Amino acid sequence: MSELQTAENMVSITIDGVEYKAKEGEYILNAARANDIFIPAICYLTRCSPTLACRICLVEADGKQVYSCNARVKEGMAITVSTPDILTERRAMMEVYDVNHPLQCGVCDQSGECELQNYTLELGVDSQSYSIPDTKREATDWSSVLHYDAGLCIVCERCTTVCKDMIGDAAIKTTKRGGTALDKSWKDNMPKDAYSMWNKLQKSVIAPSNGTGNTDCSDCGECVAVCPVGALVSKDFVYTTNAWDLKKIPATCAHCSSGCQIYYETKPESIENRDEKIFRVSNEWNYVSLCGAGRFGYDFENRTAIRDEAKFDKAVKAFKEVDVINFNSVITNEEAMMLQTLKEKMGVKLINREARAFQRFLSFYTKASGNSLYSLDFKEVMATDFVMSVGTSLRNDNPNARYAFNNIQKMNKGAGLYFHPIGDTLIPTFGKNIEIFNHKVGYEEGALLLIIKLFADQDKLPASVKEQLDVDLVSMLGGDSAKFDKSLAKMMKKKETFSLMVGEDLYFHEKAENIAKLIAIIESCSDVKVAMIPPRTNSLGVALICDLDDEAEGYTIGYNESGDFRLSALGDGDLDMPAMNQQEGTLTNMHKRVTPTNAALEYKGYELNEIMNALGYGKRETISWTESLPTSKGFKAVEFDSLPNHYSNDGTEHRGYLLEQSTVEVEDVTVEKFEAKELEGDIAYRCNPQRQFNDFSDKAHQIFEKFALYVSPAKAEVIGSRVDVEFDNRTITLDVIVDDRMEGDIVAVPDFKSSENIYELFGESRFKTVIIREA
Ligand code: SF4
Ligand code: SF4
Ligand code: FES
Repeated sequence: MSELQTAENMVSITIDGVEYKAKEGEYILNAARANDIFIPAICYLTRCSPTLACRICLVEADGKQVYSCNARVKEGMAITVSTPDILTERRAMMEVYDVNHPLQCGVCDQSGECELQNYTLELGVDSQSYSIPDTKREATDWSSVLHYDAGLCIVCERCTTVCKDMIGDAAIKTTKRGGTALDKSWKDNMPKDAYSMWNKLQKSVIAPSNGTGNTDCSDCGECVAVCPVGALVSKDFVYTTNAWDLKKIPATCAHCSSGCQIYYETKPESIENRDEKIFRVSNEWNYVSLCGAGRFGYDFENRTAIRDEAKFDKAVKAFKEVDVINFNSVITNEEAMMLQTLKEKMGVKLINREARAFQRFLSFYTKASGNSLYSLDFKEVMATDFVMSVGTSLRNDNPNARYAFNNIQKMNKGAGLYFHPIGDTLIPTFGKNIEIFNHKVGYEEGALLLIIKLFADQDKLPASVKEQLDVDLVSMLGGDSAKFDKSLAKMMKKKETFSLMVGEDLYFHEKAENIAKLIAIIESCSDVKVAMIPPRTNSLGVALICDLDDEAEGYTIGYNESGDFRLSALGDGDLDMPAMNQQEGTLTNMHKRVTPTNAALEYKGYELNEIMNALGYGKRETISWTESLPTSKGFKAVEFDSLPNHYSNDGTEHRGYLLEQSTVEVEDVTVEKFEAKELEGDIAYRCNPQRQFNDFSDKAHQIFEKFALYVSPAKAEVIGSRVDVEFDNRTITLDVIVDDRMEGDIVAVPDFKSSENIYELFGESRFKTVIIREA
């Protein structure tokens, strides 16, 4: 039984005469999978709506033929997976799928892991009853990473479904392909479901929805992942290797704080060069969805590393003299623990801007709520039917937060409120029941007060909050009160579970403490529960493990950041370090889970633990630190090698462990009055384009977004193509890139290149007044 299932919501069913338990209302297919029973199924994707494109999942339930991906279990239901009629239908379907399918398995990228091959064998298709003249279907590139071979496509619609229901781009659709129509005589001479499936298949191919031939999407590659055949493949991977030659290294993606499950798939680079190379990244796509950086940004390893003793000695000398270590959150828990040990033993100051802002915010939240950590993880958010988002640019900051917001609209008949100063034309496309407030910069407290006004039990509210609700908050946030009241009534219909996602704008906010109190009040006085998006890869782990400092001066070692002496996994420092795809260790993700990651590639240089050993504080190896992560902060004293790393068939995640949460006594929650200070003139927002997260995503050859100024089409018209952006303490010159989905005047300055020191320009805020001039 999964973690979420309880005896109360389980029903008894029989499958082929054997009794099983299933979650009430679950699709038969999922109930069977959860009990490790196999039902053939091609088009269905868990977490997405059934499309009935393949029809192969036919079963008999209580004497009637149903599609198991679309029919729900009931108490006492008797299910038979295969009857003679169903077997005839399935066999006919597989024959149809094989009609005119090109005989190129020897070179096809999917061969060896192809579901068409597997089902053809599984259903014993050893002869062909059907035929039709073939239609020429061209292979084409949809984007810089997507390659579609229409000739191989079986029009199962998995790609279009995942793109709409999970990712939210809806960038591809089925479209007419032309070609020969089915002879009507087939209708009477073949099984009915197989005929319907063939009729549709024969007429369709997949194409970009915008009609341009180019997807212009977020290039997440989920369509590639879910494609059961070799029709959708990444451009870089086409015809490079056979699936069976690749070794799968289970790992945790290190680009953002989602910490998604991935496999690095490797094999030796060539016959001459036996060094392992990553050929692609795959994932357990039924349970987790990646973004473009996770899927395509994998070749960021430190290739230049050698063991240079002179450099190592210099590094040890630097550590003996160090006053400050400047680092970021692309670092494992174990390395963070090493840095914390240096602080405890040698009094070194630790500077990590994004983790410090998050740490401060978490501590304000803990004092006001009594909870050591926020209540929800993002899978729980996905199970709610009313979602709100404050303080994060949903398309850019964290792909899983965006997928959750979208998936709730599509799968849970959900509704959503989105608060952010920058307009984004993608958000309204997620669903009909979304209200968007593009409020003024600095009005985030107003957004939280509106949520309190809408959802909280007014009798429970502290006086300091109550007295602030007697104003027209909707108008203050740029909405129309009368219209909003009407749409809210519609949005609230049949809604039972409420979630609020909050992000980095709030951690880097001069009123962060007040904001954290408002969030704690939302949780204690309403049914709305909160999930926080940690700013970067392991910001949560670092925030829990390290006592970070606000400011520090003196001799500085930078770890993937600037410093007098630089340790760098990018290969550009005074001593090389391993990149994340060359390391063993753990990361703490936004789902409050400590997950293991493994080395996919060899690393030939020194590791931080070796410096620790030279200083007298080291352990046998890096992963020896895993069991000494602080239990007082929710970590477990467990060995790295004991950490599991898989999902079970019902979708339960067995990756590492969940942090233990604790409670403390609540301190005073008197809230300050919200008085907005408006920023004048041009405003810059510290925000990355959606495929870039850090120096490592930037290094990967398939991630193309540049370090530049991102602006709306309207803003681009008035500022030109290259500009000086003047901050209080420095001016930077940037090319201007138009982001078609951005709306409004605020411009976005990326922070993914640490050498540009962008945090320094923005200080303790994500929004900053700037002067923009044509360069
Ligand atoms: S890459 Fe992602 S967004 Fe683009 S078409 Fe595929 S699933 Fe959709
Ligand atoms: S491209 Fe792949 S996933 Fe998409 S419809 Fe064709 S076979 Fe299915
Ligand atoms: S899996 Fe049910 S119709 Fe395709």
